[in-house]
Formats: sequence, C-alpha cells, structure tokens
Amino acid sequence: MNIILLGPPGVGKGTVAVKVSKELKIPHIATGDMLRSNVAQKTKLGLEAKHYMDKGLLVPDGVVIKMVKERLKNNDCKNGFILDGFPRTIKQADEISAIANIGKVLNLQANDSIIIKRLNRRRVCSKCGFVYHLDYIKPKNKEICDKCGGHLYQREDDKPEAIKERLKVYREKTAPLIEYYQNKGIIINVDASGTPEEEFNLVIEVINNKSSNACANK
Ligand code: AP5
Repeated sequence: MNIILLGPPGVGKGTVAVKVSKELKIPHIATGDMLRSNVAQKTKLGLEAKHYMDKGLLVPDGVVIKMVKERLKNNDCKNGFILDGFPRTIKQADEISAIANIGKVLNLQANDSIIIKRLNRRRVCSKCGFVYHLDYIKPKNKEICDKCGGHLYQREDDKPEAIKERLKVYREKTAPLIEYYQNKGIIINVDASGTPEEEFNLVIEVINNKSSNACANK
C-alpha cells in the first residue's frame, strides 16, 4: 500500500515511519532527509534548498516534485511506500495523485506545546541519521550516537525562530491538505501525543484496518 504521513513539524512522522517501513517492508521516503543529504553533499539541489530549509520555509514545489518522482521510479517502491514530509502543498498532492494510487493518509496530531518540546530537544546523528530526543529517546551520551558513534547535532531549523516559521508555514500551506484528503475519503486522524510506542501501535492499527470506511476520523 502507498501511505502518506501528514502532520505538523516535529509530530513524530519520521520516528514512526522508520518503524512502519521495517514492519511492512516498504521504503520510507522522507523529503526532508533527501534534501538534507543533498545539502550535506553540496549538490546543486542542496545549495538551492539550504537557503529555504534553514529559515523553515518550503523548498519550491518544482524542485521537490521532481526529486520525489525520480525516487518513486525505483524498484523498491513497486510494492508500496510510506511518504513522510510529502506532499506539503496542494500542487504536490495533485502531482502525487497523478502518478500513484494513495491508499491511506494518516494525519498525525499533537498540540503545539508537545511539538515544540519535541523539536527543541531533538538531536540527529550526523553519520547514520538516527533521531534522538534528549528526554524521550535518550542517547547514552548526548553528543554521541549509541548506534554508530557519530556526532549528534541540532538541526538548524530546530532553533526557536525557525520552529515558529515552520509551524506558520504548516498552517498556511500544508494543513489545507487535511480537507483535500477528507474530500477523497482516505484520511484518518491519529493521536500522536503519546509515547513513541503508543504512536507506532496506533499507526499500525490504522494501516492494518481493512475497513473501506477509511475516513472514520476521530
Ligand atoms: P522535514 O525534515 O520533513 O521536517 P518536518 O516535516 O518539519 O518534520 P520533522 O522532521 O521536523 O519532524 P517529524 O514529524 O519527522 O518528527 P520526528 O520523528 O523527527 O523538512 C525539513 C525542511 O525540508 C522543511 O522545512 C522544508 O524546508 C524542506 N522540505 C521537506 N519536504 C518538503 C516538501 N515536500 N516541500 C517543500 N519543502 C520541503 O520527531 C521529532 C522529535 O520528537 C525527535 O526528537 C523524536 O525523537 C521525538 N519524538 C518522536 N515521536 C515522539 C513521541 N511519540 N514521544 C516523544 N518524543 C517523540
């Protein structure tokens, strides 16, 4: 099945998507990760994207859509995929609908105070990309990755000003997708305010629910 994870920055899309990808053996396609990898490698795309990302703004549609379309051509996507961070605009949603059949859209929900706590204390491994939280998903040493020994860093867009901008951009550009997918009858709200394990269990439950009434929003 092709799945979209929708939700504000820091709600836990990436954390839960990594687990779902393992569980269902489908690739996790995270546009944020793809863009950050381009930034790290100083590609042309990365140099263009960095300017927007550091400020918490969206990278232009054309750039991101092209990148996702290329990725979806890979063989590993033929039995399904989980999209994290895409689509983020109506234009992106129209483009993905034109090339892939989306089975379910999961709308992860948590309030702003939870989100801000999660983003403020997030740390990412510079080597393997594993995502920690200094209170909830703690590394043994706050500067070193337990898994590979890589250096843990704070994302530039996890600074307070950029978080504020990202939440604003989410409300303006991405939240309208909730209604967009409600109209298609494929969106399900998922409470993402609990622990990572609770969030994962709810997500798997919703994905495995074969009911055709996928729009049973809570
Ligand atoms: P992107 O990387 O996609 O950022 P985001 O959507 O803002 O999402 P985040 O990665 O910040 O959060 P998340 O929901 O994945 O949370 P996580 O699991 O890490 O995009 C970055 C930038 O790239 C954008 O601003 C834009 O510039 C650009 N971009 C990307 N896609 C684009 C697109 N389609 N179009 C245009 N531009 C695009 O969790 C957060 C923290 O909480 C972590 O520390 C984690 O350990 C912790 N945590 C997770 N779950 C829980 C839980 N249940 N309980 C406690 N802690 C938890």
